[in-house]
Amino acid sequence: MKSLHLQIRFLVPLLATLTVAALLALPLLDQMTLRWFSRDLSARGAMVAKTLSLAISDIEPGAKRERLRALLERGVLDERLVGIAFCSADDRQVLSTKGFPDTLSCKEARDVAGQKDPRLDLASGAVHIGVFPVSPQQADSDRLVLLHDLSLPDRRSVDTRRYMIIFITILGLAIAGITMIVAQISWRGWVSGMRAIMRGEGLVRPLLQNGGGPAPDSAPPELQPLEVEIRRHLRELEDNFYREHGPLTPWDPERLRGLLRTELRGDQVIVVSNREPYIHLRGPDGISVSRPASGLVTAVEPVMRACSGTWIAHGSGNADQEVVDANDRVAVPPDTQDYVLRRIWLTAEEEEGYYQGFANEGLWPLCHVAHVRPVFRESDWAQYRAVNQRFADAVVAEARSDDPVVLVQDYHFALLPAMVREKLPKATIITFWHIPWPNPESFGICPWRRELLQGMLGSTILGFHTRFHCKNFTETVDRYLEARIEHEHSTISYQGEPTLVQSYPISIAWPTDDERAQWPTPAAAREAVFARLGLAPDTMLAVGVDRFDYTKGILERLHAVERLLEKHPEWQGRFVIVQVAAPTRSALDEYREFQDRIQRVTERINLRFGQSGYKPVHLLAEHHDHAALMALYRAADMCVVTSLHDGMNLVCKEFIAARDDEQGVLILSRFAGAARELPEALVINPYHVEETTDALHRAATMPPQEQRERMASLRMTVREFNVYRWAGRMLADAGQWRLRERITRRVQRRSREGAEAMIP
Ligand code: G6P
Repeated sequence: MKSLHLQIRFLVPLLATLTVAALLALPLLDQMTLRWFSRDLSARGAMVAKTLSLAISDIEPGAKRERLRALLERGVLDERLVGIAFCSADDRQVLSTKGFPDTLSCKEARDVAGQKDPRLDLASGAVHIGVFPVSPQQADSDRLVLLHDLSLPDRRSVDTRRYMIIFITILGLAIAGITMIVAQISWRGWVSGMRAIMRGEGLVRPLLQNGGGPAPDSAPPELQPLEVEIRRHLRELEDNFYREHGPLTPWDPERLRGLLRTELRGDQVIVVSNREPYIHLRGPDGISVSRPASGLVTAVEPVMRACSGTWIAHGSGNADQEVVDANDRVAVPPDTQDYVLRRIWLTAEEEEGYYQGFANEGLWPLCHVAHVRPVFRESDWAQYRAVNQRFADAVVAEARSDDPVVLVQDYHFALLPAMVREKLPKATIITFWHIPWPNPESFGICPWRRELLQGMLGSTILGFHTRFHCKNFTETVDRYLEARIEHEHSTISYQGEPTLVQSYPISIAWPTDDERAQWPTPAAAREAVFARLGLAPDTMLAVGVDRFDYTKGILERLHAVERLLEKHPEWQGRFVIVQVAAPTRSALDEYREFQDRIQRVTERINLRFGQSGYKPVHLLAEHHDHAALMALYRAADMCVVTSLHDGMNLVCKEFIAARDDEQGVLILSRFAGAARELPEALVINPYHVEETTDALHRAATMPPQEQRERMASLRMTVREFNVYRWAGRMLADAGQWRLRERITRRVQRRSREGAEAMIP
């Protein structure tokens, strides 16, 4: 039906063209036919006149008049001749036949005959007039006037016109018919060609063909130039669909819960981390609950809300003890109470040795190659071991079965997996290392490197953010322990116990529609932030959000801002960076010195480029809650992440999630694990100040369309690769592992029983 419509659309103009052509051609044809007839009649008349002239010259002068009349009367017996007149040289009519009109004089006849179209309309009908000398060799010869009937050519002309119309109509119909057939065949060819292209056969099939000839259903040659374009458009449509709707089976809390019920058969989940997800603090207005600035907590908390279970962590809030029950447990989050937080109390010595000392002065700088020397003290090591044991004992105490799923978080608990394994050999222990893992040489400076590796290899699964960190870890084990490494299966077997070493890039929970409904619009957020910070309306706003840590590249970022104002003076008075720096580990000298230094550099830059009502750097060294950060992300023109070394970095993912208007530019350090997943960001080397400066300028001048393209793509990645997928993949791997273990145990038991039965 559609093809018929198409053909009609094509045929109507064709038929209209043919009709116009016919209307133009017919009068021309008419004129031409009449001219031919006129020429014919003139020739014919000349011939008749010549014959008559010969006969006239033979007439005796005495009998001339009568003989002449008889001769002329015989001449007009020809049906096409109407009449003949004999005129003297001086235009006197000597005689004429019967049909010759009386009204026509010799002179008039000669005048008409001399015209281009020698036609005369008489009452009896139109005639063609021809005047011929009787003796052409004489100058004053008598003349014969011949009148030919023109009704015959007129009739012929009408006939010709009729035949022409019939001919053009038949021709038109024939062309239309052939066109329809050709159009039908081409249409089918187009449709099957298009289908082949869309099925992806257009390009692939001809290549696969051995014999050469066109593959059935492959794109016909005339469509091949279009093929690339059609594919590109299809791809774009697909991308847009994917951007809008996300993956077909997205990872969300529901899917994660389903996985726990099926593959892990509802087994208990226990999380162990140093930092707790909710901190109770006593202030002048009573007890308040605060969320710590920790990428680990940001990621693991939504997973725990989805899975329920128990989270064991250090109770560090000054009101934490007041809200727990007799078993040091409190249900959190405070409003929905989805899971249990079990708090562990640490003494000041324990905290100093295990947390500040070994974890943050030893392992943190050891793993982050950020040019701060790790410090290893024997006393810190002792505390680290003791606290790991205390947490391991808490895991065993919280376990309701002998095979719980234990999720061990980060570098604070490298020894804990082996300690839990000792008490609960059937437990599934998934350890996730949230920070980078250095190369074997760097790690080798730790005096207790073997003990740390042995402790970690008590895990069933050991996860890192990137394959690069997995590789570093495997090489470190290879260097310092006697272990069997199977690269093909990504496993390390130490003392007969295998550990799967895999990369699981961590992420955030993609905001739900309800959460997004709470957010201010970007314009409202901008207005509020600008009013709070006293920024001019045309300010180009960059934000940085970090813990106040030397690994985050805050100093390098400030240097880049300073260089931007030097290199592009047009930004002076207009470019502002708001740096949120959440206080962290301030008990350590290294951190205190670093924080003081950043304060000094900020003051220097503000002194150098500040004007009345304008300072380029706003350093907000205080804790910001989630809502405040969201408002800042939505208000900003760009977000700057310049970590010198970072396992993943979730700030960049939070910024992306906040920008549902698909605006804003992300500048991202290539030394953050996130750079591997988010290439649409402006990826920079933070040690190269000039490069970061250029990225700031580029971000500040990036057209909205480019921002949209980049942001839409980044959002697609973060939405799909969310934290439920991170946890889901680890738990699915754990589920498979447990299944394999159960089968192995069953097979071993049966073969043992079989062997015992054989013994007489
Ligand atoms: C990093 C670590 C986390 C830690 C967080 C905050 O993200 O990987 O384990 O919780 O920093 O540090 P803090 O020492 O305050 O817990």
